[in-house]
Amino acid sequence: MEVVVTTSPGEVAADAIAGHLRPGAVLGLATGSSPLPVYTSLLRRRDAGELSFDGVRAFTLDEYLGLPRSHPESYHSVIRRDFTDRAGIEVDGPDGEAADVPAEAARYEAAIAAAGGIDVQLLGIGTDGHIGFNEPGSSLASRTRTKTLTPRTREDNARFFGSVDEVPIHVLTQGLGTILEARHVVLVATGSAKAAAVAAAVEGPVSAFCPASVLQLHPHVTCVVDPDAAADLK
Ligand code: F6R
Repeated sequence: MEVVVTTSPGEVAADAIAGHLRPGAVLGLATGSSPLPVYTSLLRRRDAGELSFDGVRAFTLDEYLGLPRSHPESYHSVIRRDFTDRAGIEVDGPDGEAADVPAEAARYEAAIAAAGGIDVQLLGIGTDGHIGFNEPGSSLASRTRTKTLTPRTREDNARFFGSVDEVPIHVLTQGLGTILEARHVVLVATGSAKAAAVAAAVEGPVSAFCPASVLQLHPHVTCVVDPDAAADLK
C-alpha cells in the first residue's frame, strides 16, 4: 500500500484519479466529506481544459435503505449535487427504495461487472474503520448487501440530517469483496478523528474488526492522508 501524507490530499487524490480518465473509464465514487476536495479539484482541472470526463461513467458505493431518492441526503442526490451533474458523468448506485433488496443487490453487482469493473475506486473511511458501509464485523469477502449502521456511524453522519434519529439504520452497500475488485483504490482521510482508523487500516492486522484493513490484500492502493489523519502511523 502506498501511503502519501500531504497537506493537499484533494490534489494528490485527484492526480491519481486523473490518470485513469479516458473514454470508457469506470469510476467508483464515494459520498461524504472526504472526497469533496477531490471533486473540487477534478472539476477545476476540467474547467481549465486539463482533463475531460467524456465517455466516463461511475458507480457509487452505497445508499441508505428506505430514504427516498429525492431526499437531499440520499446518496443518489448527494453524488449528483457534489460531482456527477457538474461533471456530466452518468452514475449508477444501489437503489435504496427497491422493493426486492437482494434482487437490487444482485442487479448492482451485475451492472458493475457489465461495465467491465471499476478502474479506480475513491474511498473515505469511517471513524470505526468502515469503507463503503461495511461496518466492523463485515465479511472480508462480502458482496453488495444490506448492512446495519453502528450507533457511532449514525452519530458521525447526524451532521447531514436534522438529528441522529433521522439517520437511516439500514443501508445497501458494495461489499468488501466487491471493493477489492476495483483495479486501483484511492482512500482519502483527513482530520484527527480518522487517525486511529487509518493506523488500524494501514498498520494493524487484517481483520473484520477494521474493515478497511482488507485493503492490505489489494495490490494497488493509494492511501492519501493529511498530517492529522496520519498522526497515529508509526
Ligand atoms: C460514503 C461511504 C463512507 C464514507 C465514510 C467517511 O459513500 O461509503 O464509507 O466514506 O463514512 O465519511 P466522511 O468522508 O464524511 O468522513
